[in-house]
Amino acid sequence: MTSQAPTATDEQAHDPVGRPLPAFAVPAPLGGHGPARIIAMCNQKGGVGKTTTTINLAAALAEYGRRVLIVDFDPQGAASVGLGVSTHELDNTVYNLLMDRRADIHDIVVQTGVPGLDVLPANIDLSAAEVQLVGEVARESVLSRVLRPVADDYDVILVDCQPSLGLLTVNALTAAHGVLIPLECEFFALRGVALLIETIEKVRDRLNPRLEVDGIIATMFDPRTLHSREVVARVYEAFGDTLMHTVIGRTVKFPDASVAAEPITTYAPTHAGAVAYRQLARELVARGDAA
Ligand SMILES: Nc1ncnc2c1ncn2[C@@H]1O[C@H](COP(=O)(O)OP(=O)(O)O)[C@@H](O)[C@H]1O
Ligand SMILES: [Mg+2]
Repeated sequence: MTSQAPTATDEQAHDPVGRPLPAFAVPAPLGGHGPARIIAMCNQKGGVGKTTTTINLAAALAEYGRRVLIVDFDPQGAASVGLGVSTHELDNTVYNLLMDRRADIHDIVVQTGVPGLDVLPANIDLSAAEVQLVGEVARESVLSRVLRPVADDYDVILVDCQPSLGLLTVNALTAAHGVLIPLECEFFALRGVALLIETIEKVRDRLNPRLEVDGIIATMFDPRTLHSREVVARVYEAFGDTLMHTVIGRTVKFPDASVAAEPITTYAPTHAGAVAYRQLARELVARGDAA
């Protein structure tokens, strides 16, 4: 694949807050894989698009030849199920990996239908981990430790967090190099973000000095409503260029794709939603936040 420069006749496109939209180049092929950059997908609010963004960003990066691991870090197991993994049939999940030092991550990782994309699945068992980890030594860095054996096998590891700022999410932030924050284009989208940023800063100060906020992603954007545009404008006002250029439109194709247990990039490869997540993947690489 070669990089695409805009042609001279192209009218300069703009993002929803009016910034010129760069033509994000198709990422150059990689000579080898790893070490992985670990990214936590975080927002303590539910239903903002964390899992949808994890699955589809991961699938888009995999399409570009990256080796990607999704860590399902939500007891709901939505990322696993959304990729076709029957979580109730699994003997071992990320929970066993966290709690049992004899567990081998290689035995627990599952290949998905998307070439280059694997998932470390979760199911309801994980809901016990929050309480059980409290008694562990270095309880905040358990995820970081258990991911180490596969860090060189992947280019990107995306951790799909549960909607809370509890110990599991702190583990994700402690393991991560970067955080992506999906924000739904709705009233009160910004409510809670200050607390999230505060948590990220605490983890950076006390546990993980390398941690950075990679970006805020506006999701469920509806360009026809003034409201959606106002929300992104406010996010831009508050966070500047931490707001990614790429916004994800609201479309029923996303829930449809999860029912089909596929990323939108394979379920409806030419749909605007698939195009948007591919652009997000290219933007992330262009920002230097992914290989
Ligand atoms: N851009 C979008 N447009 C329409 N529906 C979406 C979009 N993104 C996510 N959804 C749907 O919204 C619900 C919540 O999204 P999800 O990714 O599970 O959020 P979270 O992981 O933050 O709880 C799901 O039913 C999902 O299919
Ligand atoms: Mg989720």
